[in-house]
Amino acid sequence: MINLKIISGSTRPGRFGIQPTTWIYNIAKEMSDINVELIDLVEVNLPFLNEPIPPSQNKYSLEHTIKWSKVISEADAFIFVTPEYNHSFSPALKNAIDYLYLEWNYKPVSFVSYGSLAGGARAVEHLRGVAGEIKMYDLREQILLPNYWENLNEKGEYQFNERHVESAKGIIKDLIFWGETMKKAREALAK
Ligand SMILES: Cc1cc2nc3c(=O)[nH]c(=O)nc-3n(C[C@H](O)[C@H](O)[C@H](O)COP(=O)(O)O)c2cc1C
Repeated sequence: MINLKIISGSTRPGRFGIQPTTWIYNIAKEMSDINVELIDLVEVNLPFLNEPIPPSQNKYSLEHTIKWSKVISEADAFIFVTPEYNHSFSPALKNAIDYLYLEWNYKPVSFVSYGSLAGGARAVEHLRGVAGEIKMYDLREQILLPNYWENLNEKGEYQFNERHVESAKGIIKDLIFWGETMKKAREALAK
């Protein structure tokens, strides 16, 4: 069993981001060979990075960092769910990533993004560059929700379709494959 952690990158009151996060979490929960956790950065509530020593040295001094490190250490695979703010991903997600280093290393990640015409594609392109720097393996496949506001029902709920569900299942299957493969590789590296 691998641990998949789905991180919701938007922290705004009234955010749309919690909808696609909950949606993909519910799909993953129904799949076998996987433990799933939804991580809401509002609840994690990290301050702006305030550790005195860079994370690659793995010498944390603050309680919130030690707690966050434990959460991410336990993971074998990730889905980052991000809005697009000024053609990039959310500052809350960048801050949460920057806190740690080794905890992200050699783990696969995929993405769900949303926004206007580009559906958050530019945000994910930036995230892929960051993923490379923290030695993550970014999957080619991602889910984009362009002009998401055109697809809400009268209650403001996004109407996911069969194609979205199929993409999500394909991504989660790939994350299980790479999550297991990279878990073994990490164990081999640690020997
Ligand atoms: C600061 C800010 C910048 C934004 N910039 C973009 C952008 O560059 N591209 C885009 O598609 N949407 C942009 N938007 C619109 C967002 O896609 C939309 O507000 C979305 O609901 C934000 O996600 P959230 O509700 O989960 O926070 C921006 C929104 C904010 C608040």
